[in-house]
Amino acid sequence: MNSDELSGKRILVTGASSGIGKQTAIKISRKGGSVFITGRNKERLEATFHELEGSGHLLRTADLTVREELNALIAEMPELNGVVYSTGISDLVPCQFISEEDIRRNFSVSFEASVLLTSLLLRKKKLVKNNCSLVFVSSLATKYPFFGGAMYISSKAALESYARTLAFELAPKGIRVNCVRPAFIKGPMMQETQEKISKGAMDKFLERQPLGPGEPEDVANAIVFYLSPASRWISASNLDLGGG
Ligand SMILES: NC(=O)c1ccc[n+]([C@@H]2O[C@H](COP(=O)([O-])OP(=O)(O)OC[C@H]3O[C@@H](n4cnc5c(N)ncnc54)[C@H](OP(=O)(O)O)[C@@H]3O)[C@@H](O)[C@H]2O)c1
Repeated sequence: MNSDELSGKRILVTGASSGIGKQTAIKISRKGGSVFITGRNKERLEATFHELEGSGHLLRTADLTVREELNALIAEMPELNGVVYSTGISDLVPCQFISEEDIRRNFSVSFEASVLLTSLLLRKKKLVKNNCSLVFVSSLATKYPFFGGAMYISSKAALESYARTLAFELAPKGIRVNCVRPAFIKGPMMQETQEKISKGAMDKFLERQPLGPGEPEDVANAIVFYLSPASRWISASNLDLGGG
């Protein structure tokens, strides 16, 4: 892929203070795009910002589950050629112990925040017609679940269904919508999961990844493809990034 593949494009990346979102923002900047990065942690978001190449980048901290912060973020937003939705929490609860709070917490971060962000972007006409690509980071766990992952996985499955409907609604506007579904990727989320589930369960999961756990960059590369003109005829798809 050319280094100027995303030249002239303005792309919002959520969850840019860490892991996949961070690496994606950096990769977009290396491909010539300008990024609007957001996350909650100011120091880590600034660290991402310092690693961006080129110019025209913007940074704004926001908790996307807080409506006022979401509104403030939208107000500052330029017109966009793409959005990468990479917020997420690692939250494990076996089914018999799931509480209302577990449902609310998982769905508010993994589902509701991304849905409301998109509604606002559409209503405020911030997505450029015929030149815009939305990429949701789901999880391969929607296909291969793991113990305790019911709420995390259900919220991602809801997101995938939402994305397919969105793709259908936005196709006439020339706006594409796709999901990437990574398996375990090295970073804080994998680390947290590793600490919460048994070694046996983790080993079983990794057996399905013969290429081993991925790097955030492996996901970023696929996202950049979806943002670039090379994927201009691809929408409503789920790309499995399973490491084999
Ligand atoms: N890592 C994996 O193995 C894996 C596998 C499959 C799918 N995924 C998915 O990939 C995405 C990124 O994962 P990752 O590994 O990069 O995780 P990560 O390193 O933990 O990063 C998660 C990001 O989400 C942000 N975030 C969380 N809650 C937020 C909120 N309420 N408002 C705004 N931002 C919030 C965090 O911001 P702050 O840190 O600034 O709070 C952080 O930037 C997630 O959707 C995850 O479910 C990950």
